[in-house]
Amino acid sequence: MSNNPILLVHGGAWAIPGNMVEAHLNGVRNAIAAGWRVLEKGGTALDAVEEAVVVMEDDETFDAGRGSFLNREGKVQLDALMMDGATLRAGGVGCVEHIANPIRAARKVLSESPHVYFVGEGAERFAQEQGLPLCENKELVIPREVERLRAFQSNASKDNQDTFAPTISHDTVGAVALDTSGNIAAATSTGGTLNKAPGRLGDSSLIGCGCYADNQSAAASTTGWGEPIMKLVLAKWATDRVASGNLPQWAAAEAMNYLKDRVNGHGGIILLDSQGRTGIAHNTPRMAWALRTSDRLDCGLESK
Ligand code: GLY
Repeated sequence: MSNNPILLVHGGAWAIPGNMVEAHLNGVRNAIAAGWRVLEKGGTALDAVEEAVVVMEDDETFDAGRGSFLNREGKVQLDALMMDGATLRAGGVGCVEHIANPIRAARKVLSESPHVYFVGEGAERFAQEQGLPLCENKELVIPREVERLRAFQSNASKDNQDTFAPTISHDTVGAVALDTSGNIAAATSTGGTLNKAPGRLGDSSLIGCGCYADNQSAAASTTGWGEPIMKLVLAKWATDRVASGNLPQWAAAEAMNYLKDRVNGHGGIILLDSQGRTGIAHNTPRMAWALRTSDRLDCGLESK
């Protein structure tokens, strides 16, 4: 069977200000280019989503990899997950502080381990055993984020600032892909929320919350405020709607309504099924996304 491949990525759902729009659109287009190189050569959906996410982890625009939000102790602490829709194999890492590309570590968990999830020091040891380089945490910290945390912490007591307001960046990144063999996969990577408590894990790296893939339903990656998304197991909720016969675009939009109505959450979601049908939705002012098929490249900040 040879299908037309498809790649869909997102670079976070929030009130992306005008002066950051171009960086976000460039970032998602670069991610698409990297993932598409894999798919057009007949590579797997799993490899494509990994390569697309690595590009966004390396791009300081996004809250993933280097340049992520800092936790309340001033450290970068990263979470990532990948899932293979053909086999339901999954690999996740959480609360890692010394891996620049946690999605690569998640891939190693998926491919090389009988386990599904590693956290903290154990995740870093596993990654190192698998040949991935470790780095100093300070190599992941950039001045923009030091200043953002300083401003947030110094204003927090005065203004009663809401860390989870949609105006505060939720630049979690993610990708879903369909390959020429008809298999789908999903990947999500994040630095989590600004000023989070050390050890706090969000939705992104939890199966069914920030990421899910099953050839029999759909591949999904979410972005936004993690705690509400986790409570609804939102990625799985959306893919179940596709399995029940609904279009991915309908399921994506309904997932955002459910998130808002049930737990007053905000964020975004991308969906792709093994027939190549896509869904893009968010209930924040903007979400950066890009979509590549054999004959077109599309990107934007609004839902489709
Ligand atoms: N969605 C990212 C987080 O809350 O950690």
